[in-house]
Amino acid sequence: MREHDVKEILIDKTAIAQRVDHLVDEIMEDLGSGHLVVIGILKGSFMFLADLMRSFHRHNVHPRIDFLTLSSYGAGTTSSGTVEIIHDIREDLAGADVLVVDDILDTGKTLRAVINKLGGMTPRQVRTCVLLSKKARREYDIPADYIGFEIPDEFVVGYGLDYAEKYRNLPHIGVLKPELYS
Ligand code: PRP
Repeated sequence: MREHDVKEILIDKTAIAQRVDHLVDEIMEDLGSGHLVVIGILKGSFMFLADLMRSFHRHNVHPRIDFLTLSSYGAGTTSSGTVEIIHDIREDLAGADVLVVDDILDTGKTLRAVINKLGGMTPRQVRTCVLLSKKARREYDIPADYIGFEIPDEFVVGYGLDYAEKYRNLPHIGVLKPELYS
């Protein structure tokens, strides 16, 4: 199936599913099944997070889950590094092994803010997991602990990622036609 705004499929759903399982295997080797709390950053992480959670089931591990909804400030030319909390988490993170999940690590502004915020809630540790990383766009030195795919600096949609709030429901990662935003 082709959406008319999408130029090509960059990562198909089979490759995503395989990578998700491998990521969870890696995470389990590192973290074990202790007091794992998975925090999804909305909106973009919803599909990735759902598949990660299903994959934890293969290890008979059933993490607690919560969501943080953020909105970026100063995007574009004047990246201020500030993010606003639209909806905060409710879980108590004291002593927990926290896994922050996001769809994409771009400038690093979002993950930096999240790590700073959650780190102040006395967790045992905070790890980060992103499906996609655009290294070329990084402005803050934020290393993700688990990365699904390094991708080129193209506008990607699908599997949680949007173009004007559209295409989040694609089962794959697609590249948007450049003429739509250039
Ligand atoms: C996107 C994405 C990440 C963030 C990454 O969120 O979901 O959270 O940007 O970019 P950064 O590394 O430059 O901070 P967006 O603000 O588009 O909101 P959304 O998740 O609701 O789509």
